[in-house]
Amino acid sequence: MEDIKILAIESSCDDTSAAVVLNGRTVLSNVISSQIDLHTLYGGVVPEIASRKHMEQINQVVEEALKEAKVSLEEITAVAVTYGPGLIGSLLVGVSAAKAIAYAANKPLVGVHHIEGHICANYIDHPELEPPFMCLVVSGGHTHLVRVEDYGVYTILGRTRDDAAGEAYDKVARAVGLGYPGGPKIDQLAKEGNAKAITFPRAKVDGNVYDFSFSGLKSAVLNYINGCEMKGVEINNADLVASFQASVVESLVTRAIAGTKESGLKTLAIAGGVASNTALRGALEEACKKEGFTFYRPAPILCTDNAAMIGAAGYYEYLAGNRSGWDLNAVANLPLGER
Ligand code: KG4
Ligand code: ZN
Repeated sequence: MEDIKILAIESSCDDTSAAVVLNGRTVLSNVISSQIDLHTLYGGVVPEIASRKHMEQINQVVEEALKEAKVSLEEITAVAVTYGPGLIGSLLVGVSAAKAIAYAANKPLVGVHHIEGHICANYIDHPELEPPFMCLVVSGGHTHLVRVEDYGVYTILGRTRDDAAGEAYDKVARAVGLGYPGGPKIDQLAKEGNAKAITFPRAKVDGNVYDFSFSGLKSAVLNYINGCEMKGVEINNADLVASFQASVVESLVTRAIAGTKESGLKTLAIAGGVASNTALRGALEEACKKEGFTFYRPAPILCTDNAAMIGAAGYYEYLAGNRSGWDLNAVANLPLGER
């Protein structure tokens, strides 16, 4: 079969990224221009600033991705782009750029779901991985337990009822003054703390046993902080974030393992920004070993937002014959599995 080279663009949140991916699994380039320094000043992503910055960066990032991959636009098979879910103004920049490039170069356009991209990051780092498998998707905006039935075919077993796992990390980090983005900072600080120091609640959710909930935990952490401040008790931040993290990790691990077992699968993968968390990776590794499951996790750089994962997902969409029209629009709330 002829080689398929996908030029992929991702701009759904605060990273402007472009990549060239060969046959869905080999990354020829993956250029990521982060806006973190800019948003740190405000303690979180400011959508208006994010879209402006994407506008400034996008052309340069695409050019760099092609140059680094040593591939000309003529040699590209198709252009893939994240069209949702995400920040509408940010998504529009990537979608408009992808449309312009694909139209000018006379290449097919393939719209990709952001979460599908996160899941497909696993194909890049694990060439032997094939569906079916279970995937725990944990990012700043999403917490899903997804059964990957086939390429591009997903069944959602569970999802968060309120905050996403990454959102809980970011909110708790802000409350203890660690700044944005909180996930990586809590990850580091928790290593110095005692995860058993404070017992925070493990979320119980009525109804679907695979659904998640993190807002109660977040409130419990905030209440603990307020209580200590009122009593004049000094807070050990390392113990606090380690204990918070233990609750998040336990909630994620128990559901992911139970879902895999119930589905009769023997393979569990993780995806999304929070999948780069060392405590979560360690706990899942151990739990999978105990169950005799194979555990897959992408390198941390492929867990957080990047265009290479969109290139991997775009490849399988392209193979399935899915093409987007020139009227492709950005969709802020796009359910997984819909086109
Ligand atoms: O997937 P992602 O880059 O963007 C979204 O699609 O949301 O995920 C970003 C989220 C942020 O909430 C960030 O705090 C969290 O992932 N995150 C982490 C770690 N690295 C990033 N959370 C916990 N531990 C980490 N090491
Ligand atoms: Zn993401």
